[in-house]
Amino acid sequence: MATLLKPINEAETARFLLPREAYFSGDWYRREMETLFAANWYFAGFTRDVPEPGDYSCVQVGAYPMFFLRDQNGDLRAFHNLCRHRGTAFLSGKGNVRHGMTCFYHFWTYNLDGGLRGFPQREQFPGADRDRLGLRPGAVETFRGMVFVHVDPDAQGSLIEWMSDFPANFGPFDPEKYVESPREPLKVAANWKLFIENHIDGYHLFHLHKDSIHGLDHDNQEHSLYADHWTVHEPLFGPTLLPEYEKNMPVKVMFPDEPRWQASNVHMLFPNLGIATGAKWFVTVQSIPTGPTTSIVDSRMHYLPYEDGEEEQELTYYDKGSSEGTNLMAEDQLAAERLQVAMQSPLFECGPLARNYERPVMAFHESILRTLKP
Ligand code: FES
Ligand SMILES: [Fe+2]
Repeated sequence: MATLLKPINEAETARFLLPREAYFSGDWYRREMETLFAANWYFAGFTRDVPEPGDYSCVQVGAYPMFFLRDQNGDLRAFHNLCRHRGTAFLSGKGNVRHGMTCFYHFWTYNLDGGLRGFPQREQFPGADRDRLGLRPGAVETFRGMVFVHVDPDAQGSLIEWMSDFPANFGPFDPEKYVESPREPLKVAANWKLFIENHIDGYHLFHLHKDSIHGLDHDNQEHSLYADHWTVHEPLFGPTLLPEYEKNMPVKVMFPDEPRWQASNVHMLFPNLGIATGAKWFVTVQSIPTGPTTSIVDSRMHYLPYEDGEEEQELTYYDKGSSEGTNLMAEDQLAAERLQVAMQSPLFECGPLARNYERPVMAFHESILRTLKP
């Protein structure tokens, strides 16, 4: 098995480094919300979420409510969703504020560049300096149609620097060109980290997903770690023998001449964004914390449909019998939720981890511990 992970001693396995409190303690949760997410670029959606000037989309970055919008010039801007009067998070969801943003509470109004336009009963605020009461900016950058925000407008390192080797590992995929299927966010009764740890665990693929993933050569999975991020590449059994689970997708193979991009490529951008691609699809899977023991897994699946009149590709599949009745996502949810139950027990203890296949879990913990260190 090829691996770029830091070698650990031959005789050693990998280890689970976080204490069980990291999965339910309010204090640990607060530290993560205030520092872990603030130290990284955070996936906030796609450029197509805000096609028109004035369109905005809210995003919760750990403890920080934020939003990004498209201004009159078509540029993206990010702000903290905090009114400068009493602080209300005055926007929610998605919408359009082409004519300016008005906080619903006392009607303070902001321009699309964040500047305070005005506020009622001016005589009540002697000495208030409008120029110093604009919305607090964040930073926003994009990568092939994916939008990332940063709580700090002077974020150290651009998005592309932070991504490190991700673009090379991601390959030629271009989410900007794809069509998205309807979103079905999943409520999970588990700490947000459990879904990510499952996402980067190459060991369970052989077992938990024995019936739901056919056609990928798990034995030859190649892991890469770069900065705090991770990629696993799993080859196909034959150069153009697609996995069985892609059989019922009536959409195009995106790179018909390139076996590497027909195989499975799964990524994690630290701390909570999963990205995966197959021959016919691209998906983002974000594990969003909603409390110490609850989260939402928000998947955004994309395809490249055939165009009208286009001839269908001739494809062959690795057929190993029907995988009907198995659901990859439900299997992963079960694992996360049963681990959450276990971790409440004072007797919970994690045994050795697989030295290669579960090494990414240990690396994830190393990154968290390093980032949270005061
Ligand atoms: S809190 Fe926004 S106007 Fe008062
Ligand atoms: Fe899984």
